Amino acid sequence: MSGSGKSLESQFMDMANGLAKEAGAMMAPEEYGQWAEESYRLMGMADGDGKSSMDGAMKMMNAGDVSAMNPSSINFSPKTLSDGVAMTAPALKSAGQLIPMMENVYGASEKAMTDGLYFMAESSKALLPATPAVENPGDPVSATSGIQGFDVLDPEFLCKMANDMYKSGAEYMAQMTKMAEQALGEAGPWMGQSGNATPHIPPITNQSSVGALMPNLDNMPYFMSGAGAASRTASGASAFNIEGVRSDFPILHRTVHGKPLIWLDNGATTQKPQVVIDRVSHFYEYENSNVHRGAHTMAAESTDAYEGARAKIATFMGASLPEEVIFVRGTTEGMNLIANTVGDKFLKAGDEIILTEAEHHANIVPWQFISHRTGAKIRVAPIDNNGEIIIEEYARLLSPRTRIVSITHVSNALGTVMPIAEMTAMAKRYGAIVVIDGAQGIPHRVVNVGAIGCDFYVFSGHKLYGPTGIGVVWGRKDLWEEVSPWQGGGSMIEKVTFEKSTFAGLPNKFEAGTGSLASAIGLGAAIDYVSSLGIEAIERHEAMVVDYAVQEIQKINGVRMIGMPKDRAGVVSFVMDGIPVREVGTLLDAEGIAVRAGHHCAQPALAHFGLEATVRPAFSIYNTMGEVDALVAALRKISFSAKC
Ligand SMILES: Cc1ncc(COP(=O)(O)O)c(C=O)c1O
Repeated sequence: MSGSGKSLESQFMDMANGLAKEAGAMMAPEEYGQWAEESYRLMGMADGDGKSSMDGAMKMMNAGDVSAMNPSSINFSPKTLSDGVAMTAPALKSAGQLIPMMENVYGASEKAMTDGLYFMAESSKALLPATPAVENPGDPVSATSGIQGFDVLDPEFLCKMANDMYKSGAEYMAQMTKMAEQALGEAGPWMGQSGNATPHIPPITNQSSVGALMPNLDNMPYFMSGAGAASRTASGASAFNIEGVRSDFPILHRTVHGKPLIWLDNGATTQKPQVVIDRVSHFYEYENSNVHRGAHTMAAESTDAYEGARAKIATFMGASLPEEVIFVRGTTEGMNLIANTVGDKFLKAGDEIILTEAEHHANIVPWQFISHRTGAKIRVAPIDNNGEIIIEEYARLLSPRTRIVSITHVSNALGTVMPIAEMTAMAKRYGAIVVIDGAQGIPHRVVNVGAIGCDFYVFSGHKLYGPTGIGVVWGRKDLWEEVSPWQGGGSMIEKVTFEKSTFAGLPNKFEAGTGSLASAIGLGAAIDYVSSLGIEAIERHEAMVVDYAVQEIQKINGVRMIGMPKDRAGVVSFVMDGIPVREVGTLLDAEGIAVRAGHHCAQPALAHFGLEATVRPAFSIYNTMGEVDALVAALRKISFSAKC
């Protein structure tokens, strides 16, 4: 029995009220009741004698009752099933909202509550015809089935139930989820959903781990999260409202060849949210002035905005000193800056620069220039056939001759997330300077340069929802101070005579001439935007979409996936039997789907797989499972037509 001594109905109302309060405008108590009644009915539990929604909801809460739902008498049509599964969304949402309240009221641990409630939602979602029985007297799942009513609210019981279910229910749930997915596949599109944002059950990717079968609410799919582009889950992490995010990007509303645009060329560049567009316009409409120069009001305003952006970027990267952040045009210019300053200072004949086989040309060619000038040698750490670094080979290359290690955070051709912190630590044992090409890293992963331990981290603003023409090189202050400037001109000097010049301090020393002021300020706005969503939430959303894309694309006839890294961000690469890559790109374009089809400026990485080009959809914060479906459908069509 619950310790509260209240009636079942008033307990439930308390809970519903708490839920509504937690959820703000998300779900009123009546709505919750309505939902409970409806799901109760859909699951075949309604006995037609007017059982109240309270009672139904309580049964739902008592997840031990899944066996009591008498699955053998249930015979769902695919439509009912897909309706039923769609109803899991509010269930899970409710579960998320319940947790803080249950914690407060009953003192249950958040983890136990999360897992227990998640299981309930999963169980209800997974209820299918031919459900295997879970009756087993020794099994805590079945053992709970006799417990009725508000006993289930007893905190101890709930915690125990959650823990027990966590263990014994995992296998059952995996099976159920799989069956639900299958049935959904047969049922076709989800009820009540249309367009690009069609929700799906996220695939369970690691069936061997009980933990993975019982995801906590941090893994909650986006369509089960709250209102607003950025909202909070019960466990405190940022959640995602995909439709909110999509509405922030005006370009996503355009059509291409009469079809809704599906932008999957995010590896090349990302689209811009309205806040970034507005910030850039505002600069030109009200603030336009060069920085650091005049004594007038607008110069001060634009300088504040420009330096403000620098400070935001530093914080975003985990750097403590804004002056360590140097504005450049993009990653390419950043790499050239480092090669020409740091490379020039520290490299000599006999030294070695280590790159990986997965590098973008921007992290190869500048090193070739400097190696020709200095006599330093480039050594290449190989990748394996999954596209992952062969860490033992990398270790073998490191030696006291290694002066610079320059590696990509994420491969733009394969999607591999490189173990940059580990690789940095290994290089540091030999005192090497470590440079990270973060062009494809920072849009998808939390970057903390201190935690990585690197000396330089470089990225492009336009791949992070910011404007083109702006990029960043973060570098350690002591190293920046040791090296000479690369480009000379205005703004970077202290004193100039015809005989000689002395240079300004950081960051001006490396920012000769007028920079892309509006773009830098726009990048600051992009960072604000991304921060408001939370990189962790972005990572979870993208992982769900990308995992689903990998899973579905590889099922298509004649598709060969290029690179299957365990840790992947954003990018999926593949080729199709007998269909030239560029043709695939053009055919997808006819469907309104923009992907990259080519060598992605990573020819050595593709050469590893004996290829010159791949098709590369690259996913981002605004991409949906529905868009993956559209891509897969178009690819199936292409594959089918090629065989006719
Ligand atoms: C990994 C990587 N590095 C460097 C670059 C070059 O970036 P940018 O063209 O913005 O200079 C790219 C661009 O695609 C990239 O993906």
